[in-house]
Amino acid sequence: MAYVVTQSCCADASCVVACPVNCIHPAPGEPGFATAEMLFVDATACVGCGACATACPVDAIKPASTLTREEQPFVAINADYYDCFPHHDRTPLSVVVAQRRLVERRVRRVAVVGAGPAGLYAADELLKHPEVEVDVYDRLPTPYGLVRAGVAPDHPHTKRVEKLFRAVEDQPGFRYLLGVEVGTDLDLADLRQHYDAVVYAVGASSDRSLGIDGEQLPGSLSATDVVGWYNGHPGQQDLEVPLDHPSGRAVVVGNGNVALDVARILTRDPAVLERTDMAALPWAALSRSGVREVVVLGRRGPAEAAFTLPELVGLVGLVDDGVLDVVVDTGGAAIPAGGRKLQILADLASRAPRAGVARIVLRFHTRPIEIEGDHETGVRGVVVERDGVRETLETGLVLRAIGYRGRPVADLPFDEATGTVPHEAGRVRPGLYVAGWVKRGPSGFIGTNKTCAEQTVSSLLDDLDAGLPAPSGTRAELDALVAARCPDAVDLAAWRRLDAEERRRGATRSRPRAKIVDVAEMLRVAHAAPAPARRRRYPSKVREVLAGR
Ligand SMILES: Cc1cc2nc3c(=O)[nH]c(=O)nc-3n(C[C@H](O)[C@H](O)[C@H](O)COP(=O)(O)OP(=O)(O)OC[C@H]3O[C@@H](n4cnc5c(N)ncnc54)[C@H](O)[C@@H]3O)c2cc1C
Ligand SMILES: NC(=O)c1ccc[n+]([C@@H]2O[C@H](COP(=O)([O-])OP(=O)(O)OC[C@H]3O[C@@H](n4cnc5c(N)ncnc54)[C@H](OP(=O)(O)O)[C@@H]3O)[C@@H](O)[C@H]2O)c1
Ligand code: SF4
Ligand code: SF4
Repeated sequence: MAYVVTQSCCADASCVVACPVNCIHPAPGEPGFATAEMLFVDATACVGCGACATACPVDAIKPASTLTREEQPFVAINADYYDCFPHHDRTPLSVVVAQRRLVERRVRRVAVVGAGPAGLYAADELLKHPEVEVDVYDRLPTPYGLVRAGVAPDHPHTKRVEKLFRAVEDQPGFRYLLGVEVGTDLDLADLRQHYDAVVYAVGASSDRSLGIDGEQLPGSLSATDVVGWYNGHPGQQDLEVPLDHPSGRAVVVGNGNVALDVARILTRDPAVLERTDMAALPWAALSRSGVREVVVLGRRGPAEAAFTLPELVGLVGLVDDGVLDVVVDTGGAAIPAGGRKLQILADLASRAPRAGVARIVLRFHTRPIEIEGDHETGVRGVVVERDGVRETLETGLVLRAIGYRGRPVADLPFDEATGTVPHEAGRVRPGLYVAGWVKRGPSGFIGTNKTCAEQTVSSLLDDLDAGLPAPSGTRAELDALVAARCPDAVDLAAWRRLDAEERRRGATRSRPRAKIVDVAEMLRVAHAAPAPARRRRYPSKVREVLAGR
């Protein structure tokens, strides 16, 4: 029975090498892999062995017979790929490639700055070399970057990639120094003194602005902040998100997956969100929300929409469940033919919205001109323009979801135009590297960072083999420095205590975890003395043996 790749695929290609008949594509190195929204199984070649499902970190591959109704469209989506790109060569890829080895077998220490997907994939790649030790830093006391603070709470499958990150953490040579901000607590000179090489994987934590009047008014917010707010980022918990405007409407600017994420979260049933790991205060605010309609503004047409097919299919699932309407508004322009995404949008455009059902309006060819309101009462509306015609959409909440943006990184060069650190194959200069969004800019899926980190680590290993100056400081000196500057730094054992406590608190309310959002409380829980181990009571015969009798 054939297996099918479904919505939560993050394109990391773990399944590709697991497949004995080479029927999952595009594979790394093939055209289209770098930009693939997801991978696809060729049902005509699949022998149903299930090896891919075991390899998948986010449980995205399932036997066709176990798909839910919402997942059924993925059968055709997988097949579509092979209609366009038939793969006739079925030579298995699962040949074991010889593991690269460092020329000189002495201990090397590498600092990875940022414990998001890029940092952890880089650590994983480095730890394939037994002589390499990796210290992973993060400014937060918690790891996983946007997997914890970005991925939507109602996408629990995607968050399962944490399982993979736990396996990375468990490898010998891995250490965490969480709650340490590089650039503030330690700088690059400190790291260069104590490590053979430093990899920055600090992401792109800022947002882009629209540059229109009224953007600074209360109620005009960036999706970056709102996503951090509902995901429990400690820096965003005081955010004021007005959800009570009499119009019952919120407006989201931008047409990417982040725009769909926030639109969906704003319209989801609080009872569903209650069973997720959404932070407590945002959940309370959303459960009182008066928002019934979210208008998503795309400045271009359906053919240019940046949101991906799997995410659109996810929305259609909610429409079919009767909990959401998706209205497609092109202002009368025809939706062109050309692929399944446009077909779905055309189908949605022909459906009439239902009374009493929350709705997302995908309004294309529309750009915001000005946000109206005042500093006392906040946003009142947004003036939009389509085909030269202006109109005001009443609302108290405007969210710009027009892309993230990298911030300049202390001690590193920065390209203002792209918001990234200039590099060549991940190398900024020998000994200094970048991976992930700070390297490529804010695009791509979790798994995209794996290929990206592999390239960076390959450059790093080349430089180690070519000869890099050895660090002058010892590990003991580094530990003393960190202890002096960041006495509360969180190591792996402390993170696991915090993780276990969040899961314990969540389990009491049937939630995957109840996130702790206050840094002081995080540190208290992380550093709490472990409960004393209960003494094992051995049977008397064993006690006698242990006592040497
Ligand atoms: C809202 C949103 C939802 C997403 N949902 C999905 C999804 O469902 N599926 C999917 O496949 N992809 C998703 N993505 C994309 C995915 O999250 C990114 O591709 C990925 O997280 C980028 O990895 P990164 O490691 O480069 O950056 P990040 O994940 O941002 O990690 C960077 C880390 O660096 C740390 N850091 C920053 N500065 C410093 C410093 N000075 N010192 C120490 N540490 C520092 C940060 O705290 C952070 O932990 C989503 C992205 C967003 C924005
Ligand atoms: N579930 C998932 O897999 C998931 C979830 C969230 C994010 N992600 C990934 O994370 C990455 C970032 O996502 P994103 O949504 O932030 O970015 P994105 O995919 O780059 O989308 C940005 C959107 O903003 C629009 N935009 C930019 N400037 C604008 C302006 N001045 N006025 C109006 N619209 C403007 C763009 O339109 P134009 O095209 O016209 O420029 C585009 O539609 C993406 O690769 C995404 O796939 C994945
Ligand atoms: S079930 Fe087996 S044959 Fe089918 S795609 Fe997965 S690994 Fe390949
Ligand atoms: S997430 Fe990775 S392993 Fe799972 S289906 Fe997608 S590419 Fe394959």
